[in-house]
Amino acid sequence: MEQNNQTVQRGKFITFEGIDGAGKSTHIAAVVEFIKSHGLAVVSTREPGGTPLGEKLRELLLHEEMHLETEALLMFAARREHLARVIEPALARGDWVVCDRFSDATYAYQGGGRGLDKIKFETLEAWVHGHLHPDLTFLFDVPPAVASQRIAAQGRDLDKFEQERTDFHARVRQAYLERAAAAPQRIQVINADQPLEVIRQQVLDIINQRGV
Ligand code: TMP
Repeated sequence: MEQNNQTVQRGKFITFEGIDGAGKSTHIAAVVEFIKSHGLAVVSTREPGGTPLGEKLRELLLHEEMHLETEALLMFAARREHLARVIEPALARGDWVVCDRFSDATYAYQGGGRGLDKIKFETLEAWVHGHLHPDLTFLFDVPPAVASQRIAAQGRDLDKFEQERTDFHARVRQAYLERAAAAPQRIQVINADQPLEVIRQQVLDIINQRGV
């Protein structure tokens, strides 16, 4: 794309992953501020969600019982909408995109947690986002027992995934770690059972190394 005779450089796409209660949110906000402080435009968004339709699908996905394959398909349907309306246009105009969860979550939750065959996700992934993958993914890794204590301390109503038993979250964690081992350059595993400030510094150092 040409603008003022200069080629617009595609923005970077950063995603955050981890089991429920891993503590991504605080750090996502810090990363967004950090990128902005370097004079860059950044879009902060989430999955499932990120568009009006996607947020409606999120409501269903987090609270309605449904067939496990319907759940996986709706995750990808929401993702298609999100990519078309938010992520792809933002990256094309040179904005950075910081996204709370993306396709790694489907592999971890619907694959590891629910036990669906990952071949199905590979097909859907190729359809829904072709060659577009995150440039960098932070995997906040924490034992399920620590994560569930954090969620309990918040004292709020739990969604469908948060209500799952510890063994579900242990399988989700395992699937995430396997994906990180298969893509060590893209997926940076952060020990999320450390003081907030230590985690924050590790995350910002990695972003700095990747060229902010
Ligand atoms: P959040 O609470 O981090 O916003 O995530 C919403 C929930 O949706 C979380 O429990 C993980 C789940 N999820 C999936 O099961 N599959 C997916 O593909 C995505 C994006 C999220």
